[in-house]
Amino acid sequence: MSKARIIAAAVALLVVGAGALLWHPAIAPVDTHAVFSHEQVARGAELAAIGDCSVCHTATNGQPFAGGRGVPTPFGTVYATNITPDPETGIGRWSEAAFKRAMRDGIDRAGHHLYPVLPYPHFTRATDADIAAMYAFLMTRPAAHATAPLNQLPFPLNQRFVLAGWNLLYLSPGPWHPDPAHDAAWNRGNYLVEAIGHCGACHTPHNALGAESSGQTLAGGQAENWYAPPLQSASPAVRPWTQATLADYLRTGFEAHHGAAAGPMTAVTDELAGVPDSDIQAIATYIASMMPKTAPEPVMARAGGDPHAAAIFAGACAGCHGSDAPMTRAGAPSLALSTVVNAPTPQGAIQMILNGIPWREGKSAPYMPSFGAVLTDAQVADLASYLRATYSEKPAWTDVPAEVAKARGSS
Ligand code: HEC
Ligand code: HEC
Ligand code: HEC
Repeated sequence: MSKARIIAAAVALLVVGAGALLWHPAIAPVDTHAVFSHEQVARGAELAAIGDCSVCHTATNGQPFAGGRGVPTPFGTVYATNITPDPETGIGRWSEAAFKRAMRDGIDRAGHHLYPVLPYPHFTRATDADIAAMYAFLMTRPAAHATAPLNQLPFPLNQRFVLAGWNLLYLSPGPWHPDPAHDAAWNRGNYLVEAIGHCGACHTPHNALGAESSGQTLAGGQAENWYAPPLQSASPAVRPWTQATLADYLRTGFEAHHGAAAGPMTAVTDELAGVPDSDIQAIATYIASMMPKTAPEPVMARAGGDPHAAAIFAGACAGCHGSDAPMTRAGAPSLALSTVVNAPTPQGAIQMILNGIPWREGKSAPYMPSFGAVLTDAQVADLASYLRATYSEKPAWTDVPAEVAKARGSS
């Protein structure tokens, strides 16, 4: 986003925030908590996994939920805080009511506004019972003494009161309602996607003030310079997704006709791996109901493309992605089936080349080496364009070198 747009956005929020300035009382600290049932804690663990709490609230190699991870936004970095039950630095002295207010309204125990990086615009739809279960789960984690670094946001966005304006404009509080036109599984999936999984935080386009654009739910968005493809009728997937293939992808991070979850989606599928199958099936039912049912036959690789890029591909990539490579023969899909190669932006292809898919110790998950350190920006751009020309019938991308520069700046 351009600097001018961010400044305009900041000024707009400052004005609305000043007008909307409301005082929120502190909720008194508590010293003891109810004893939680095993079932409630277990249910809270599942919801926390679908809600990715530990993905944001855990620093690299840090204690789970102890915070300290910087979440990049177009405006600056916001650090996820310590949500372990440590009484001084965590939420150990938060009552369930204080926790519920943070999840529903984005107000912390002391009465300060929280940045919507915490997906409270989604969590606001969670049921009382589900919020209570997540509270029970967090309150029974080991406490960690840890304070997150200060956020890096420009003035006036570093003034929390501007969020009063943001909430006035963009937070629509209130419970989730089932749609009687659909069955129980669809409704369960809709609830989990909207109220807990916050898939739209990445898969919905955002406006200049960082809110999800209304009327464009799951129409394709951005996450940390990755393109998060549409999960509805605009899906660029070459083989249409079905309920069964979506469930496979979400549970394992890999699906034989579409490929692997990479970038910010890897952490999402890692978390979903432990979630009960009925919930995965429900999410898949709901998403599949919005996806296109047919798609044109894919090309399976064409000759041609820039010869320099073809040589890099032959040396660096074909050992795994070539048509007779062991990986391809063992069932990995052709790059022609890859959504990132067929997407409207080159961001995914560029990120794949720069970062690959990280090695995850102890998991039998797909791995691809990163090439960011060995290829120049020009080579990365040529290679991305080559993938498009060779494996997709969609028109060439036009903005490849600029997107490479952007991705390098952020990685
Ligand atoms: C996309 C990243 C992200 C995800 C996912 C996320 N959070 Fe957060 N959360 C944050 C950030 C960043 C903050 C700090 C916001 C601020 O400083 O205003 C925060 C703050 C909080 C707070 C307030 C803590 C305090 O000390 O003020 C609570 C409670 C919380 N999160 C709970 C959760 C729970 C429960 C989940 C999962 C259901 C969750 N979060 C998922 C990023 C995230
Ligand atoms: C933190 C951001 C983020 C969140 C949250 C997120 N996704 Fe994704 N998702 C991505 C990105 C980025 C990609 C592209 C990954 C790639 O290119 O391999 C992706 C890819 C996908 C794909 C593959 C699409 C295709 O056509 O290839 C599906 C399906 C998907 N996500 C479903 C979901 C669902 C369902 C949820 C909520 C439960 C969700 N995602 C939450 C970022 C996210
Ligand atoms: C050591 C094996 C290996 C090498 C070398 C390798 N990759 Fe990959 N790549 C993988 C695996 C595994 C996946 C995930 C499975 C899949 O999607 O087929 C993947 C996925 C991809 C995808 C995304 C497909 C999808 O899921 O949407 C792209 C694009 C890609 N690779 C491009 C490249 C390029 C370009 C090179 C060379 C610079 C390269 N790869 C080198 C193993 C490799």
